[in-house]
Amino acid sequence: KNILVLNGPNLNMLGSREPEIYGTETLADIKDILVNRASDYDCVIDFRQSNSEGELVSWIQEARGTASAIILNAGAYTHTSIALLDALQTAELPVIEVHLSNVFKREKFRHTSYISPAAVGVICGFGAKSYCLALDALQDILS
Ligand code: DQA
Repeated sequence: KNILVLNGPNLNMLGSREPEIYGTETLADIKDILVNRASDYDCVIDFRQSNSEGELVSWIQEARGTASAIILNAGAYTHTSIALLDALQTAELPVIEVHLSNVFKREKFRHTSYISPAAVGVICGFGAKSYCLALDALQDILS
């Protein structure tokens, strides 16, 4: 199974970006942890990051027919992007929404997600582990 893992804006800055909120792991560290976890399963991880909403939309469009599922941390686009929602609803793939931080413990504007209606479920607040939990959840969904 080919799992597309998409990361949105500013997640390339992990490690130095507000470590008290997001931890000290870099995005490369998270990729390593996830690739390692995927080797326990019959899964290949395609791990990407973009600061551009349009690029994320294009990647979701391309996933249809090529990926088995999507794990998505859309960063701040979570709270703004109807375009990502529309793309996800067209993808016809299981989507797990993830966040490093517990968005419900934070500012009110982070309590709303435009993309959750297209997701099977949402995992937030466990740092890098949020991604691993999403991969675990996908095993049942894909089997
Ligand atoms: C985030 C939470 C978002 O509110 C924020 O804009 C991010 C990261 C998280 O992983 O906790 O960029 O998605």
